[in-house]
Amino acid sequence: MTRFNVQVITTQVHDGQKPGTSGLRKRVKVFQQQHYTENFVQSIFDAVSPDGKTIVVGGDGRFFNTEAIQTILKIAAANNVAKLIIGRNGILSTPAASNVIRKYKADGGILLTASHNPGGPDNDFGIKYNMSNGGPAPEAVTEKIYERTKTIKEYKILEAQPLSLEEIGEFTFGPLKVQIIDSVKDYVELLKSIFDFDLISDFLTTNTSFKVLFDGMHGVTGPYGRAIFVETLKLPESSIQNATPLPDFGGGHPDPNLTYAHDLVKVVDEKNIDFGAASDGDGDRNMIYGANAFVTPSDSVAVIADWAHCIPYFKNGVKGLARSMPTSGAIDLVAKAKGVEVFEVPTGWKFFGNLMDAGRLSICGEESFGTGSDHIREKDGVWAIVAWLNILAAANKDKPGTGINDILQDHYQKYGRSFFSRYDYEEVDSDGAKKVVDHINEGINSNSLIGKKFASSTGDFVVSEAFNFSYTDPIDGSVSKNQGQVVRFEDGSRVVFRLSGTGSHGATIRLYVERYTKDETQYTLETAKGIKGLIEVALVLSKLEEFTGRKEPTVIT
Ligand code: G6P
Ligand code: ZN
Repeated sequence: MTRFNVQVITTQVHDGQKPGTSGLRKRVKVFQQQHYTENFVQSIFDAVSPDGKTIVVGGDGRFFNTEAIQTILKIAAANNVAKLIIGRNGILSTPAASNVIRKYKADGGILLTASHNPGGPDNDFGIKYNMSNGGPAPEAVTEKIYERTKTIKEYKILEAQPLSLEEIGEFTFGPLKVQIIDSVKDYVELLKSIFDFDLISDFLTTNTSFKVLFDGMHGVTGPYGRAIFVETLKLPESSIQNATPLPDFGGGHPDPNLTYAHDLVKVVDEKNIDFGAASDGDGDRNMIYGANAFVTPSDSVAVIADWAHCIPYFKNGVKGLARSMPTSGAIDLVAKAKGVEVFEVPTGWKFFGNLMDAGRLSICGEESFGTGSDHIREKDGVWAIVAWLNILAAANKDKPGTGINDILQDHYQKYGRSFFSRYDYEEVDSDGAKKVVDHINEGINSNSLIGKKFASSTGDFVVSEAFNFSYTDPIDGSVSKNQGQVVRFEDGSRVVFRLSGTGSHGATIRLYVERYTKDETQYTLETAKGIKGLIEVALVLSKLEEFTGRKEPTVIT
């Protein structure tokens, strides 16, 4: 038997390797520090007992992806992992990785991504561990990994030349088996098993004036988008843009919202495109945007749930629906109409996984441009985009000429409208952020907010309830406290304050506002107008501007 050269390297603890909402995210330069990546990878293996296991590895192709994979290969080989399944050239979108874990019955996955955060040598990288169900590791596991990073003294690594990741096939790397797979194929097969591609294709070929534009934002979804929109649906090459993945996302911020997806917004508006859509760096987020029609993520998931019957995957109905707490309650109304359960979980896709595994959840979404279903255990950008095409194709069969706006207006007519917006104050000074949180907590804990009347330019708002959101997982009973501060008003509106758990440095305060109306005259109103007064109230009651010195949010979505 060949002897492999496994080395035990003495290391020192790196502080702050605590996974956030979605894995460990830091500047590339932080990961490049001596032993930093090695420590974290070894800690993952120490936490998940990798003996004889099969692990999927892939990333969004951002700068440092390749180096990190070579490190994982060497550490996996030295830690008795049996096999790594790796996307060709190290590429797997986050949803594709979730699918591969499930389809190949792997024991887990290491995903290399910082999602929608900018990439490149001066920007972010990330490492995230997923479980055998294909979903992000729950807090119990990420805590175990973190605990390990705080005491690590050595790591084991195989001394070997880098393995080429270019060719599909089976290889060995020291004692480790390595299977390199096509990054796109399994995912396309999955979507074909979910949606009515014949219906979509018929609709698009008989309505050639209905224009589609998919924007990959130079993230990982370019090749996935090409496979679906150009190769499968036979749309022209001009129906995809920014579809070449780049390690720095072309210098952009690969986050599909109205601010950062400006390339898409510009072309859609200029060319009057009926259906525009974008996905983020690692392919799990989506934005649906047509000429004069922006779909808020909260509405998007509600619409998909309402139209689920036209998607073959849901032909037997939906089991349950869910949203994250700050997401608007639009989907709750659909659940009520369908007579199915609806769950409100904390921010973070990992909270949906248990409900899906227990067969209680089919479709869910978050205000943060995440939409998905139990076909995998991650949110899925391209899935949501094809879901909308499936819905539009079905709607056009009944009523030719139906566009995004018609779908939205019909939805509001049926259920009423939830105005929703999120204000982000990025990279605020941590002291200021803490003061905001403390100040609201004071109001919550002393009960002094209840009954308080706040005047605004659109009328008075009286507080009916104020609390810190806490969640008890209905499946495993685990409790997650302090998941956001909620202030409700007598008219049913609410504001929520939360600190982001995905930033790589500084604090980001998120302010979420929601106002529901059944007044038909407001269904076509701009969101900004619909929530104007509520925003004023939120800023007054939190003293956000005073404590942070910020007069304007960094991003409004
Ligand atoms: C990621 C997570 C989502 C979460 C979003 C915002 O995309 O997967 O579940 O909603 O980040 O999280 P944050 O903690 O920054 O508000
Ligand atoms: Zn993402």
